[in-house]
Amino acid sequence: MKYAILLQPLNSTLPTTQTTTMSQPATYVIFGATGNLSRVKLMPALYHLEVAGKLPEGTRILALGRRPWDREKCISEVRDWITAKARGAIEPEIFDRFAARLDYFKGDLTADTMYPALRQFIDQHPEFPQNIAYYMAISPAEFGVVVERLHHASLLEEGAGWKRVVIEKPFGYDLESAQALQRRIGRYLREEQVFRIDHYLGKGTVQNVLVFRFANTMMEPLWNRNYIDHIQITHSETLGVGSRAHFYDGAGAMRDMIQSHLLQLLTLVTMEPPVSMEAESLRDEKVKVLKSIRPIHPDAVHAHAFRAQYTKGEIGGQQVAGYLQEENVPSDSVTETYAALKLYIDNWRWRGVPIYLRTGKRMARQQSLISICFRHPPQQFFRGTQVQRMRQNWVLLGIQPCECLRIEMTVKEPGLEMLTRQTSLDASLRNEGETLTDAYEELLLDVLDDDRSLFLRYDEVEYAWRVVEPVLRSWTSERDFIQTYPAGSWGPQESRRLFEKEAHRWRHSLDPDNDAE
Ligand code: BG6
Repeated sequence: MKYAILLQPLNSTLPTTQTTTMSQPATYVIFGATGNLSRVKLMPALYHLEVAGKLPEGTRILALGRRPWDREKCISEVRDWITAKARGAIEPEIFDRFAARLDYFKGDLTADTMYPALRQFIDQHPEFPQNIAYYMAISPAEFGVVVERLHHASLLEEGAGWKRVVIEKPFGYDLESAQALQRRIGRYLREEQVFRIDHYLGKGTVQNVLVFRFANTMMEPLWNRNYIDHIQITHSETLGVGSRAHFYDGAGAMRDMIQSHLLQLLTLVTMEPPVSMEAESLRDEKVKVLKSIRPIHPDAVHAHAFRAQYTKGEIGGQQVAGYLQEENVPSDSVTETYAALKLYIDNWRWRGVPIYLRTGKRMARQQSLISICFRHPPQQFFRGTQVQRMRQNWVLLGIQPCECLRIEMTVKEPGLEMLTRQTSLDASLRNEGETLTDAYEELLLDVLDDDRSLFLRYDEVEYAWRVVEPVLRSWTSERDFIQTYPAGSWGPQESRRLFEKEAHRWRHSLDPDNDAE
């Protein structure tokens, strides 16, 4: 992994070392190029890579879609998407350079004839490099069949250049379908050619979890069951399901967020130090964590998992509809828009420490937060004073929107009385003027650089499915009832039933004094 830890002397603003890898020119073929992911993420990210001068000379982008567009139409659409999403105003000169890389190929993924035609197009246009990354920005049901057809049209042959396939999440719908998909694509692709995306791993602050843990000696001795009481990982959104009900209603929050993003965060927070920051060493350690998660017994699902669905409510002063009133949601749907899960990692470091994962749509605030709660001191020294029971220390890692690290401590209040208050050591992870890059920029570049450390190896995906499988099975069989919560709230109080101790409570925010339900 290019963890280019910039050695920045305290008195200098200039890094002393820097990695400047520039990969070979390649062709990005984007399947589903007229779809939402391409509009809001992929094209803007590729444009920002152009702005940063990171796209190798000669790199081309071939947008593939069913719409009857030509190159000019595609460029004009892409200009609009980028204008809507770019950081700052679009720079005409840079956009022209970007547009010169772009071409459009009209094709229907489901038509066998499309693939030989695509092959012919690429062969007849030598300006398209033979190093090709196929990006599957398409429905998950089509991943397998597209790979198969690419193979039959010899589009995966590596003679003249490498061929890589980028697969969006979800990889499978459950354990069985993930295994079937892997078997299918495994016939045509080596594992090294497959880049399974989890865009959370491209977020700078998520990578910072590893830097925080392994580039500082201070925390690591405390990072275990002897000092940590419990861990919470929360992702909450104020947005609803929007126009994605077709996908979401069949998936739900457990598949959409917990099986992927939140379990990945859990592995980064709890893994052992890897042998190196190379992709395989990192992935080995992540898999060990997933394998060590105590399987949830089918009879214990209710003690470990909680689900709910939003009803109408108020967000930011606006009335919003309930899930069942959203477009394309069946009126009897019991799909969860909120899911919480309690897990235990049965290894030497974490045995007995509950880890709570929680996610929801239409919640009170949009936020991703890792909260680590430390144990009480072994002795209550201040008994007999006005300090009855001290608050526990927390370490908080803000992923978004606030990218920060906060350590909460107890201090004595000034004055003659023995009174304490909370204070915190705060570090913002971004200095003023440092640009915010989108996760997709890093990941799209990593594909060209052949750096798989921020992508999922198949065994990671499989073990993540194994973790949630008993819960999914149980929920599938319960078709009659789901708890609800009003949009704009923090979810149902009943989710507290997951807590191991009465004293545990959800940590909603970075600010302990503003943490009310
Ligand atoms: C996606 C999920 O993977 O992640 C969405 O499918 C979710 O439902 C999104 O909203 C959250 O990502 P981010 O980067 O906005 O936190």
